[in-house]
Amino acid sequence: MSTSSNPLIRIFDTTLRDGEQSPGASMTHNEKLELAELMETMGVDVIEAGFPAASEGDFAAVSAIAEQSKSAIICGLARSTPNDIERCAEAVRKAARPRIHTFISTSPVHMKHKLKMGPNAVLEAVGRSVAQARNHTDDVEWSAEDATRTEFDFLCKCIDVAIASGATTINIPDTVGYSHPDEYGALFRRLIENVPNSDKVIWSAHCHNDLGLAVANSINAVANGARQVECAINGLGERAGNAALEEVVMAMKVRGDTLPFETNIQPAYLSKASAMVSRITGFPVQYNKAIVGKNAFAHESGIHQDGMLKNAETYEIMRPEDVGVAKTSLVMGKHSGRHAFRDKLEALGYVLEGDALNDAFKRFKTLADRKKHVFDDDIIALVDDQLAAEGERIVFKRLRVVAGTDGPQTAEIDLVVDGDEKFAIARGNGPVDAVFNAIREIVPHDGKLELYQVHAVTGGTDAQATVSVRLNCEGIMSTGRSSDPDTLVASAKAYLHAVNKLEARKAKRTHAA
Ligand code: KIV
Ligand code: ZN
Repeated sequence: MSTSSNPLIRIFDTTLRDGEQSPGASMTHNEKLELAELMETMGVDVIEAGFPAASEGDFAAVSAIAEQSKSAIICGLARSTPNDIERCAEAVRKAARPRIHTFISTSPVHMKHKLKMGPNAVLEAVGRSVAQARNHTDDVEWSAEDATRTEFDFLCKCIDVAIASGATTINIPDTVGYSHPDEYGALFRRLIENVPNSDKVIWSAHCHNDLGLAVANSINAVANGARQVECAINGLGERAGNAALEEVVMAMKVRGDTLPFETNIQPAYLSKASAMVSRITGFPVQYNKAIVGKNAFAHESGIHQDGMLKNAETYEIMRPEDVGVAKTSLVMGKHSGRHAFRDKLEALGYVLEGDALNDAFKRFKTLADRKKHVFDDDIIALVDDQLAAEGERIVFKRLRVVAGTDGPQTAEIDLVVDGDEKFAIARGNGPVDAVFNAIREIVPHDGKLELYQVHAVTGGTDAQATVSVRLNCEGIMSTGRSSDPDTLVASAKAYLHAVNKLEARKAKRTHAA
């Protein structure tokens, strides 16, 4: 909890809702619980856990997150329909602090083409939906979807009705990422000056990043009266994403001189949260991403390195350890014992017990046999890989590949599908193609390969490779990621991870339909 006299800016995390709407970023039930737990530990004030009326899976995840929550507000999203609000109320009911977040579009283009409703019908829906939500909880947030393209007087009227009907937070989304900082800040100032009872509610910013301005817009909203910022870890979200949580938090932290605001976030968790979201979604973090990118604290040029050696403040405006970046260290080798390994895991933020720990240790030993130096990043990749594969229907067993100039490139693969061992052999246009063809022999599917990417986890030719794979099956996206010293094994496991997620996502769609 913040103890400063600076205004508190509530951090509302929508990674599990707006973030999960990002194409390909689906998360399993357990992954959502794990992430929500970390958010709460990190100090997130409001966790938007999902959209309960969207599917049974979303409903179950929001309910379970509500039940496990301790101090954070757990919020569910609902359209203005009575059914959405009832489902949402039921899903967040068990939270220590439940919130219903209801919204409707207010811009002319959305009202005409999407809602096919006139302004009076929209005003009526605002009053009805907020009043219905207030019958379930005292904490109701109302959002004007596409607020930044809404006529100002109509926006004021809608907000007036929402406040009169009991809304306690008013959110002004820049739904299509169209606004810019001066304009968005001025909108907050004008609304707060013009809407009756504006001092009775918390004003909230929700920015999308279509023009790359989401964080700047959010910060300027704060400077003009917003006291809640809606954001997502790694900036995950629809299209170009939402404002990145870590950037919003650190901008206020580092520039407290001109942005005298506080948050309840403990920045030392930012790096871990970023890595967890990347592992769960399979979306790699851009190397030069602010705060959490691999290069965010790397200094390559001689002049910079020289300055850094003399005094880190020459080129660093924050310390890597402030945001939880561990210095890459040479950790252990093949003689390291189970205890040391467990301590190392704990230092890296993983608590594994029983079979999970045994499994991780076995994999570490295998890696240490094959790789001369095992770094922290290797261990993180190894454990993330194991956690990502937990509970999957189709499990990787063994791979043999014929590659090189003489061909034909061939892959033989053993998988376990629903407990049964399966074997396939296939040829391909190169070894990776052969591996993917062999998997498709065992698990036929219509997913088209949209992305295949390889990164080295650390330096050196014996480095582990992290492979990311994205499949698209008629608009349903699924991303898989895996690491291994053998690039082809990592490719097979990443592909399987994507296929597992694709199947789960297709099942969720069928259920929702
Ligand atoms: O971007 C948006 O308008 C939203 C609302 C549903 C809050 O995500
Ligand atoms: Zn949004």
